[in-house]
Amino acid sequence: MKKSRRTIGILTAGGDCPGLNAVIRGVAKAAMHHGLDVLGIHDGFRGLVEDRMTPLENAMVSGILTHGGTFLGSSRDRPHKMNVGGRIVDRTDHAAKNYRRRRLDCLVCLGGNGTQKTALRLSERGGMNVLTLPKTIDNDVAETDITFGFDSAMAIATEAIDRLHTTATSHQRVIVCEIMGHDAGWLCLGAGIAGGADVILIPEIPYDLGKVAAHLRQRQKAGKRFSIVAVAEGIVSTAEARAKQARGSDSAPLGVETRIIAQHPAGTGEGIHLVQEPVASRVARQLQQLTGVEVRVTSLGHVQRGGVPTPFDRLLCTRLGTKAGELLAAGRHNIMVGVRGTECVPVPLEKVAGIKRTVPPNHPWITTARLVETCLGD
Ligand code: F6P
Repeated sequence: MKKSRRTIGILTAGGDCPGLNAVIRGVAKAAMHHGLDVLGIHDGFRGLVEDRMTPLENAMVSGILTHGGTFLGSSRDRPHKMNVGGRIVDRTDHAAKNYRRRRLDCLVCLGGNGTQKTALRLSERGGMNVLTLPKTIDNDVAETDITFGFDSAMAIATEAIDRLHTTATSHQRVIVCEIMGHDAGWLCLGAGIAGGADVILIPEIPYDLGKVAAHLRQRQKAGKRFSIVAVAEGIVSTAEARAKQARGSDSAPLGVETRIIAQHPAGTGEGIHLVQEPVASRVARQLQQLTGVEVRVTSLGHVQRGGVPTPFDRLLCTRLGTKAGELLAAGRHNIMVGVRGTECVPVPLEKVAGIKRTVPPNHPWITTARLVETCLGD
């Protein structure tokens, strides 16, 4: 009797980033190479719940290595909290039914922290086999040295800081540049160091604007014609940090791997996000008052998530994707494929889901920044 071919489903969930198509290509090509069939699931977990899936042919995943975004579409929807006509309902049973009806052997989920949690939930409560890959420009997924998308976003933010330098110098201004990263400082710190920002504020180090202003005044006295202040979107002042602590806050200690309490800073938890005011505007206004220097603001926003992946990310995505394909062929699931040194390795999903990797206070990048006289606001 002919043995039926095994089928995997692949989806992209959460905020997009450069490199998603490269990973889809890597997983699909390697899986096909090993004799597996591949179904593309549209718009993240919503497509699984609504049974919107397309069989992927080799030709459909060719020529997409360098394309930005995700050709499958993405969403922040989660099966256990779906917004259906304005009502929040649990659709885990729909997801499980579709998984079985399509005879899926494993659900491959490309996503960040929220996706890791949702995937684990689907395996525990929906009885599905899952395999995840660490995607996010925030670089805050546990049990991996790096996430894909981070390098591309860092390149964009660094280029932005370079450009801000020249215009700030021409006008003798301070420019405050807001960088994404949720409540982790990796992106701001990495791009800030690479772009030579004079001040870098990250969520893991509560800031004191008095100290930042003193640093800016000192630069001015030394005859420097410009200052670039890179701020992460999730920063907190020392006063805010103290208030949080006094409240016996739900937020865990700064600069460590922390259990995730909230799915998204601006999120309602149901996939509808409020428009956030750039935190950089507040910082800029206060710095102008404190220093008397002319200040301008640039918020990079979703520019950091758009466009083509860097060569580093293309290589990383292809390595992660093909490793996932091999592991799927070997029947491995309930794992995330992470990066450890030069290797792509499987990690039990329970060790990843619900853990946020923020910048440790003693991280070498922090030491590096201080040694080149960058003010970190503390
Ligand atoms: O997680 C990636 C990220 O870009 C964060 O840096 C940012 O806080 C968030 O997503 C923005 O999400 P959205 O695209 O839903 O506004």
